[in-house]
Amino acid sequence: MTKDLEKEKQLAAKQAVKFIENNQIVGLGTGSTAYYAIIEIGELVSNGLKIKAVPTSEKTRSLAQSLNIPLIDINTVNSIDITIDGADEFTEDLTLIKGGGGALIQEKIVASLTKDLIIIADSSKKVELLGKFNLPIAVDPIALDSVLSQIRSINGSGKIRLAADKPFITDQGNYIVDADFGLIYNPVLLANKLSKIDGVVGHGLFIKLAQRVIMGQGDTTITYSI
Ligand code: A5P
Repeated sequence: MTKDLEKEKQLAAKQAVKFIENNQIVGLGTGSTAYYAIIEIGELVSNGLKIKAVPTSEKTRSLAQSLNIPLIDINTVNSIDITIDGADEFTEDLTLIKGGGGALIQEKIVASLTKDLIIIADSSKKVELLGKFNLPIAVDPIALDSVLSQIRSINGSGKIRLAADKPFITDQGNYIVDADFGLIYNPVLLANKLSKIDGVVGHGLFIKLAQRVIMGQGDTTITYSI
């Protein structure tokens, strides 16, 4: 039987928005799964829910505005009560790869300010070990070649992400390098190595940031918590 991944995404999104309470500051994720949560939140707002939301990308900002979800500048908040975002891969200990949509820098800033980061995912995203999905790395364009060479020096290989045959540019003006390190047995070690590379603005390993993952599975959801 083929899995209905869209339905699983929707189920996870519906379950996650139940945790939003009145008067909270809410982080809005980016990507095709977060999309369903934002639609649900728009519905709740139109029915009277009072929140202020912080988007994680320009795409999400536009979607939220189109749904009349009140937005607040991230620079004016000290903390975010709850954020609902997607992931490209997750393991049971809630380590994530994110950035498939290119919004990893803003997503990580929002995640790090968030008290309750809920990741929503379809069942294809759960893995034993991260790394089948290439790791997105945001790179300052002036450092592209040197970053690619330093990725090779730590036993990886990277390719610049393209969009319509041109480098994909993030909302912050960076390139994305999608890097293959094989299966990632030690995400903390890899994260530390990447953070030391000059020109790396950020990477898509999210470690100890998520409080739970709500995964759609068939007709229901499964929640993994820390
Ligand atoms: C956006 O930059 C990403 O981190 C997304 O959260 C991630 O790629 C998951 O996207 P989907 O929900 O579209 O699979």
